[in-house]
Amino acid sequence: MKIRRVIIASFVLIISILWAQQIELPKNPLQGQIVFEEKQCIECHAIGGYGGTEGPDLSQELYFGSVLELASIIWNHTPQMNRKFRQLRMDRPQFTQEEMLDLFGFLYYLRYLGEPGSVAKGKKLLEAKGCKVCHAVAGKGGTVGPDFEQLQQYDSPLYLVQAMWNHGETMQEELKKSGMTFPTLTGQDISDIAAYIRQATTGNVVIRMAPGDPTEGKTIFRDKQCENCHLVEGKVKKVGPNLSRIELKKGVTEVASLMWNHGPKMLESMKKESIEWPHFKTNEMADLIAYLYFLGFEDKPGDEADGERTFTAKGCTDCHKKGGGGRGPDLASIKRFDSPIRMIQLMWNHASEMEDLLITQNKELPQLSTKEMRDLYAYLRKMTQK
Ligand code: HEC
Ligand code: HEC
Ligand code: HEC
Ligand code: HEC
Repeated sequence: MKIRRVIIASFVLIISILWAQQIELPKNPLQGQIVFEEKQCIECHAIGGYGGTEGPDLSQELYFGSVLELASIIWNHTPQMNRKFRQLRMDRPQFTQEEMLDLFGFLYYLRYLGEPGSVAKGKKLLEAKGCKVCHAVAGKGGTVGPDFEQLQQYDSPLYLVQAMWNHGETMQEELKKSGMTFPTLTGQDISDIAAYIRQATTGNVVIRMAPGDPTEGKTIFRDKQCENCHLVEGKVKKVGPNLSRIELKKGVTEVASLMWNHGPKMLESMKKESIEWPHFKTNEMADLIAYLYFLGFEDKPGDEADGERTFTAKGCTDCHKKGGGGRGPDLASIKRFDSPIRMIQLMWNHASEMEDLLITQNKELPQLSTKEMRDLYAYLRKMTQK
């Protein structure tokens, strides 16, 4: 009993925190892989070549938009998917809101892991970017910085980035002293260098890239004073760019490279604002980058008035009438309509019944664009709050 009460209490706490933030962030984006398998998506869809072939491989396509962009894609394929479900005599899965969040977090996350690095390119890059002026590999090269051979714990791109970042201030001073320019890096460069270092090191410890916890990352973003210069929402102008406005829907190493490349300017403004160069330990960089990455997961707000028009134009009012009396329920009575994920969960769970009813009227399930999804959410949210 006690355990259950604790679970419920923490659940309520989590929900209320999410509510206050308006952003829903999955704690561990890889959790959704379990949902993906349990709900049998894997029977028809592969991820990176592993899984069924009835539907497209979901890691090959570009579904890395916001929650409602993803929702629009899935919704619009519902009729074809339903047909396959019937053909294969599979039950159409139902979702709880938490499962839906995990699933969407997972699909969004697929791209995050990025492209694998190339050892050969990494080797060339260490020369081309001037790293070897100061660093050696197995004794060959400069001695200003440490030998890469000792860096076995940095074989994951995230650990490499974290270590580079931590030494960023010293490295920049050394660069100035020797009159060298700051080496900018693309995301692919970082993957390649990590691949090379992984191969060059003598150790055989395999450290997998920790996925990063976006909710932790949000705390780190505040604790490391990133917030002093960067907004992620809101309009007030700050010293650094608003990070939710820039395209951070990229792989992990690309997000890392953005930070790295802006390092020198950031250091300058940090000195001006008397903020110390932030250092990261253990999994902090991974969490922080996961958070930045997930900023693109949140949707821009929709337009309530357009949502009301969409609701009529798409025929939702044929079945959902104010005060009830239609084939479907009055949507104003939905409880806990607190997030786009909630809307998707409800719509997914009811899609078969909606479709069956529509078929009897010789109509098709209406297609919904991202904008229409966003507007519908704004409209339904307002409606359910009355
Ligand atoms: C019974 C087979 C089947 C199952 C199970 C299934 N799908 Fe599909 N799915 C399909 C087919 C077939 C398509 C392609 C439909 C089309 O071309 O319009 C598709 C399309 C999609 C698309 C859009 C792909 C694109 O390229 O536009 C997404 C996203 C998707 N499914 C996600 C899921 C998720 C998430 C699950 C698990 C809840 C799931 N599917 C379960 C058969 C299935
Ligand atoms: C001008 C000299 C210089 C150049 C060029 C340079 N570094 Fe460094 N690097 C250093 C110094 C000095 C340190 C150690 C700083 C410290 O102890 O705080 C360091 C530390 C590091 C570390 C952390 C090592 C540890 O022990 O944790 C990594 C990783 C690293 N550099 C990678 C690179 C890469 C990759 C490049 C090329 C893109 C590069 N460095 C270019 C001087 C340089
Ligand atoms: C003292 C102010 C300041 C602090 C603190 C600061 N930044 Fe920045 N940041 C900037 C400025 C200024 C730029 C733009 C630099 C440029 O244009 O090269 C920037 C750029 C960036 C960019 C690249 C944005 C783009 O447009 O491509 C990222 C990502 C970033 N910062 C993340 C962070 C993170 C994460 C933290 C906390 C660890 C942080 N910043 C702390 C001032 C700051
Ligand atoms: C042909 C009739 C029909 C149309 C058209 C229709 N729905 Fe439904 N809808 C239903 C039925 C019936 C249910 C209840 C199904 C159930 O209980 O499983 C439902 C349930 C829902 C629910 C979940 C309500 C709850 O309380 O759980 C939502 C949200 C919803 N519909 C949204 C929409 C939207 C948005 C549209 C327009 C794009 C739409 N519906 C169009 C028949 C329809």
